[in-house]
Amino acid sequence: MNQESRQDAQVSPGLAAYAGHSHLPPLVGLQSMSEASTRGLTVAESVARQLRLHWSLRRLHMIFVSRIAAVPIYELKMAFSLHAHICAEHVEPLASRVREMRQPPYGLEVSPHAALDTFFDEIQCAAEIPALVLGIYGYAVPAMVRALERILADTNKLFDHPTWRVCRFALLEMHDVLHYGEQAVACLVDEPTRSSLAAWTTRLEELLAAAGDLDGTQPKCGAEPQRMFSSQPFRYDPVPRRDERFRDPYNMGVNAEAFLFDAEIPPRPKSIMLYFKRLREIDVPEMMSSILVETHGKPWGYYRDMTRQLWDEARHAMMGEIGFVAMGIDWTTIPFNFTWSLGLNTQLTPLERHGVLYAIEQGLMPKKIGKEYEWEVALATANPLTALIQDYDWADEILHARIGRDWLVPELGGQKEALAFGDRAWSRILVDWARWREQGLTEHRNWWPEVYRDACRHWGIEPDPALLAYHTTYENTRADLKQVAG
Ligand SMILES: [Fe+2]
Ligand SMILES: [Fe+2]
Ligand SMILES: [Fe+2]
Repeated sequence: MNQESRQDAQVSPGLAAYAGHSHLPPLVGLQSMSEASTRGLTVAESVARQLRLHWSLRRLHMIFVSRIAAVPIYELKMAFSLHAHICAEHVEPLASRVREMRQPPYGLEVSPHAALDTFFDEIQCAAEIPALVLGIYGYAVPAMVRALERILADTNKLFDHPTWRVCRFALLEMHDVLHYGEQAVACLVDEPTRSSLAAWTTRLEELLAAAGDLDGTQPKCGAEPQRMFSSQPFRYDPVPRRDERFRDPYNMGVNAEAFLFDAEIPPRPKSIMLYFKRLREIDVPEMMSSILVETHGKPWGYYRDMTRQLWDEARHAMMGEIGFVAMGIDWTTIPFNFTWSLGLNTQLTPLERHGVLYAIEQGLMPKKIGKEYEWEVALATANPLTALIQDYDWADEILHARIGRDWLVPELGGQKEALAFGDRAWSRILVDWARWREQGLTEHRNWWPEVYRDACRHWGIEPDPALLAYHTTYENTRADLKQVAG
């Protein structure tokens, strides 16, 4: 809308007095008539901003995903999982809206501005956690929030309603990300660290200025500054790392599945194993993130679906955490091994990893040893929290099976082929139970009796000596109760 017509609209005497039938709000309540007649972005302006938002969300999504395995702090792994999911969910609505407004080529696959890309490269390449967290939550996410707030303020709610709506939902969630991120910065970046990073954060600001801010609405000022962290291209690190609370990461000394599926053992002690299995699912985001980083050229729906599943697996880990905390058990005394994500991430191709995941998840479908069985055990414990955890752990598997059917099965030529492919890959993973012990990586300490004793104290009962003596390991049996290969 040009200046002249804006003024025309502002001075029109009828505007303020304008009313609908029976004083119903005009313009379906979206905005006042004066707002409607004075505000608006052209289609070209709206599309340009959405292209930048779209690109930035994709970049941010990959920054989160590419650090889930290697970032040691459990809470950050979980937060990155959620925030990657949030970014992934808002990419497609923006892309669809651009496709609604323009003929191809849409420009969705090309960087909208070199300085903006360098800005994200710099954050992507931040090696240390404080810089990474500050770059993401102190610069990238606030820039995203600014851009969304601006497009919502500037575009016409009626003329460009579909865009307004998409951005409104995106902003709602980006505010959540920012709120968490501000706390993360406060917890992980102290003042001396922040000052030591000043040269870098100034560069981030300069890059945004050179790009005219994330949305390109501001004057593009200054030349694009030199790269710092990204002078060498980002090298993905697939090796999972854990923080200091996760001790003994090679420990495979207590076979949770053999305990769980033993019909002789009563339900209540099994809740400990259910919580253990849930929190141990931290290894699934660690593994799935490596598939996402190393699989190129898929339609966005693939990355969105896989990131959703990744976030579900993170939720399952936190459900286990809740279970332990609610029972008064210090979960840091329990070794949650990372041998699965380590083995898959370092020994298999991304497609093989996906195959293994699919084979495992298909194995969870049978009644006798699957998710339904776990849920029944949980119900039998008569603990509503345990039941609720397993209820959702099972429900999420329905979607995960579909994601596998949608994206993996067609690629491998059918359901049978996909299962065989996954099973073969899994058998190739070296689980060298005895050698890990010989090498001093772990003693496969039997952590069960102490945790069981703590739980019995919580329940106010005496431990059952037969259960106290449980000592089945993973030496010869995989988690799906098949014999370990070789
Ligand atoms: Fe899972
Ligand atoms: Fe799960
Ligand atoms: Fe799953």
